[in-house]
Amino acid sequence: MEGGFARSFVWGAASSAYQLEGAAAIDGRGPSVWDDMCKRPGAVHGGHTGEVACDHYHRYREDVGLMEGMGLQAYRLSVSWSRVMPEGVGALNAKGLDFYDRLVDALLAAGIQPWVTLFHWDYPMALLHRGGWLNRDCASWFAEYAAVVVQRLGDRVSHWMTLNEPQIFIGLGHGDGTHAPGLKLSLAERLLATHHALLAHGRGVQAIRGNTKRRCLVGWAPVMRVEYPETESAADIDAARRSTFSITQKDSWNNTWFADPVCLGHYPADGLELFGGDAPKVQPGDMETIHQPLDFFGANIYSGTPVRAGDDSKAQVVVAAPGSPETAFRWSVTPESLYWGPRMIQERFNLPVVITENGMSNVDWIGVDGRVRDGARIDFMRRYLISLRRAVRDGVDVRGYFHWSIMDNFEWAEGYRHRFGLVHVDYTTQQRVLKDSAHWYARVIATNGASLDEPVETGLPQPAAAEAVVWSGRTGIATNGR
Ligand code: FCB
Repeated sequence: MEGGFARSFVWGAASSAYQLEGAAAIDGRGPSVWDDMCKRPGAVHGGHTGEVACDHYHRYREDVGLMEGMGLQAYRLSVSWSRVMPEGVGALNAKGLDFYDRLVDALLAAGIQPWVTLFHWDYPMALLHRGGWLNRDCASWFAEYAAVVVQRLGDRVSHWMTLNEPQIFIGLGHGDGTHAPGLKLSLAERLLATHHALLAHGRGVQAIRGNTKRRCLVGWAPVMRVEYPETESAADIDAARRSTFSITQKDSWNNTWFADPVCLGHYPADGLELFGGDAPKVQPGDMETIHQPLDFFGANIYSGTPVRAGDDSKAQVVVAAPGSPETAFRWSVTPESLYWGPRMIQERFNLPVVITENGMSNVDWIGVDGRVRDGARIDFMRRYLISLRRAVRDGVDVRGYFHWSIMDNFEWAEGYRHRFGLVHVDYTTQQRVLKDSAHWYARVIATNGASLDEPVETGLPQPAAAEAVVWSGRTGIATNGR
């Protein structure tokens, strides 16, 4: 366990099909809801589209080469449903399947495990016209698609995930309308779509297990809303835990409405009470379908909210001090979330945890000397990984970490203005440049986390690690490994 991480700990990076691949209208790919969204005036910043994106469809060999150079052990990718099945069901697109075949082979040849997500938001347009997630048949459509992909790749892929962040594609895609398909549905309709998506998850797990040709591990990748305790008093910890697993608003920004059915086999009582008559009618057998045994809980965690126990022992949000660290997206920098998130997930759901996404949007550009100095990203990763290591040391079964993202890409409604990558992409020339963070992460991987205790190279004298890191108004994390 040198560095705190087990030898089997997996160091990876993540991406998704629509955000990276491009080649949206060639080789038989059918349109997805995101192609449609990008055509709507004002829907995406600057009118940007995923038509070309990082052109990964054509440059995947070069990209796999970069991953190999970084020593990446695993790469989380998603399959574009409409590239494989242009109508969503029925006819297969051979060229689409061939692409994923080649990509998986290239990764394996480079010694990189492919971790495959079946659905990362690019829903086939043809199925939206048939009602999308509102149509209960979507669970069968998803199962059919999952079976096709697993029949093709299941002799080589060892790790599968069903849905990415259902909270977001329901909440932003079917509630706020800011993500594809841009719908603003009623609460009852959103909860119905959610129920169907959860059924699709369950049917997807069954399809994976029924069609794989090798031993594989199956999980999913919800986003986690983490409320963490301001202090480590029992009262604050208890308040944070109850708050993290509560539903107080009529939206999908919660953990339990999604994770309790999937992992515990029932909807949470507080949600049922709050949603009342808007909650979906659960048919006999639905909960058994949704509640499939999983091998890991994939968690996308970017930030959290500090809370403390109030007088009535209810959680009170601790307001961040003015000027507290934030990313370019204005998401608060809260490394504590990578300690408390996994810990609370394991406590409630009793599954091994994999961090399937974590990272930050930074203002990056190529310097005059050709280097991309993203020191903020290095500091972010260092703090978050030290926090994750604490969870591991405290006995939380965390199996891996996937940085979002391997390279800059299409950030949904924000277009290309947010850069999350370890690799810088020039979208005019498609030139890739490894940022400083990629080099730094390569060393973290090579040392299995031991290098987290090393000072970061700046060319300047640095304070001793132990005294360097406490932010006022925050708990702070010692970098001296204690
Ligand atoms: C997550 C998404 C991912 C990316 C990151 C920044 O919510 O899963 O596709 O957009 O945020």
